[in-house]
Amino acid sequence: MTDPTTPDPEAADTATARTAASVLGLALTSPIVVGSGLLTDQERNIRRLLTAGAGAVVTKTIHPTPPRSGNERLSRLPTGMLNSTMYSHRSVEEWCRMLRGFARDGLPVIASVHADTPDELGALAERVTDAGCRALELGISCLNEEGGLGDTPQRVAAYTSAVRARTSLPFSVKLAAGEGTRERAVAAVDAGADAITLSDTIAGLAVDVDTGKIELGGVYGYSGPGIKPLVLAEIYALRQEGMTVPILGSGGVQEARDVIEYLSVGADAVQVYTALHKNMHESFDAIRRGTEAWLSAHRTSVEELVGRSLEQGEGTCASVR
Ligand SMILES: Cc1cc2nc3c(=O)[nH]c(=O)nc-3n(C[C@H](O)[C@H](O)[C@H](O)COP(=O)(O)O)c2cc1C
Repeated sequence: MTDPTTPDPEAADTATARTAASVLGLALTSPIVVGSGLLTDQERNIRRLLTAGAGAVVTKTIHPTPPRSGNERLSRLPTGMLNSTMYSHRSVEEWCRMLRGFARDGLPVIASVHADTPDELGALAERVTDAGCRALELGISCLNEEGGLGDTPQRVAAYTSAVRARTSLPFSVKLAAGEGTRERAVAAVDAGADAITLSDTIAGLAVDVDTGKIELGGVYGYSGPGIKPLVLAEIYALRQEGMTVPILGSGGVQEARDVIEYLSVGADAVQVYTALHKNMHESFDAIRRGTEAWLSAHRTSVEELVGRSLEQGEGTCASVR
């Protein structure tokens, strides 16, 4: 009889093979990546999430001159969260020091970066590259800036090519799902992006019905379970229309089933963020364990799941721009 207290190396190997994923030149032990946000503005959180089994962690977006709006707040909704936050308030020097530490320890940390102009973003990308970072995400799609985002393929191409000119690191361009996603994604890839992250938060609004006041005072970033079907539809459409670069799916992941859905429509890895605002460690652990259990129960792997639903859709992609 086998001793139940002795780890079975073969079973452990199988489990590791099931959850392995690969994106941005990183061999991930799990397809679950912690997305960029307030929680990843702290070294301690980043390290603890990696220890807890995150495939990688994306830093809060680093910006050389983050605007100080004084109105950076969160508001919970039944279907997710509205937030009016923008970029990290830590200096680039402080981030580079942290990134050097992560590199020294061989940790899969993806630096999220943005700046006011493509030139400045190129220069920032070069600095984080020199700090030993292994991969980047261009956090160019935050709609909480004054005046909103108003994104275009030209804008995406300008930021992407400026970064491509200054670093040889693999990077993903993060887009917000919405009008012209396909054109913006194609612009990013044509300008040198290695992957696409879809989606950032999308424009949302809520009203306090007692006072009539708009929550947070305007239209801000909406995240959480309410956006998941929209993002799934857009990733599905990008794949059906022949986009082959790796995609990191992001939006509304709360449990293992959400991870499986994203992989099934062709995401190569999945980011989770808003769900972690409640009991960060327990919530992350539940999603990770649930995903492992699902893969094991179905005797399948991340590799086998990616894109498995693509040939089956009966609907058309006609509504997708
Ligand atoms: C409070 C908050 C802060 C965020 N900050 C950033 C950021 O700095 N950079 C970025 O690229 N995305 C940021 N995001 C977007 C998330 O990384 C994620 O893409 C989005 O919320 C959708 O995923 P989710 O529904 O799992 O949260 C933020 C989201 C929230 C809710």
